[in-house]
Amino acid sequence: MKFFIDSADIGEIRELSDTGLVDGVTTNPTLVARTGRDFFEVLDEICAVVSGPVSAEVAATDVDNMVTEGRALAARAKNVAVKVPLTWDGLKACRALTQAGIAVNVTLCFSPAQALLAAKAGARFISPFVGRLDDIGHSGMTLIAEIREILDNYPDTLKSEILAASIRNPLHVIEAAKLGAEIATIPPNVMRQLASHALTDKGLGDFLADWNKTGQTIADR
Ligand code: G3P
Repeated sequence: MKFFIDSADIGEIRELSDTGLVDGVTTNPTLVARTGRDFFEVLDEICAVVSGPVSAEVAATDVDNMVTEGRALAARAKNVAVKVPLTWDGLKACRALTQAGIAVNVTLCFSPAQALLAAKAGARFISPFVGRLDDIGHSGMTLIAEIREILDNYPDTLKSEILAASIRNPLHVIEAAKLGAEIATIPPNVMRQLASHALTDKGLGDFLADWNKTGQTIADR
């Protein structure tokens, strides 16, 4: 499974990229607004740090302007994936941008029908928002499973990757991985939670305490 970082915070992205476990980044207008910075400046910095796909979302809502904005975003770096919303105009823009050789991430996907349309429109990535579905009492993971089943029925024609988004906790990542989503886009705090376990901390503390009793060293042998 590929891990993308769901953030526009260059400090966080840089720090997490140092792990070598980051395959890409997703941003959205809310995440960009949170930085208080210029979008293009932030995008350039992220693309310089991360070699994998970096999703940048259009702000226009009509197809022509989405395509214009998408081209402008894609021109910033070769690894930009243009994010468009799952509307009819977004689907048309997805098709046009895809045909121009630009990778598209169709975002705000909340149903299998929407995902099927996005795949038919040529989306490189489809972003089902699992957390927001859970928030309203639906099952985000059921949506991932349904999209997986649909795409697997048409491997020759529907080639989109499932990018599990709106991830709120480690369990979302694990469930999405078990269901075969190619990618999870993970907020920095959840990424850190993935590695943490109280028994790891306790076990390490015990091992070190016992090792120190031996009086031995390893590095200078
Ligand atoms: O980037 C899109 C998505 O991951 C947003 O997540 O937590 O705002 O629902 P959230």
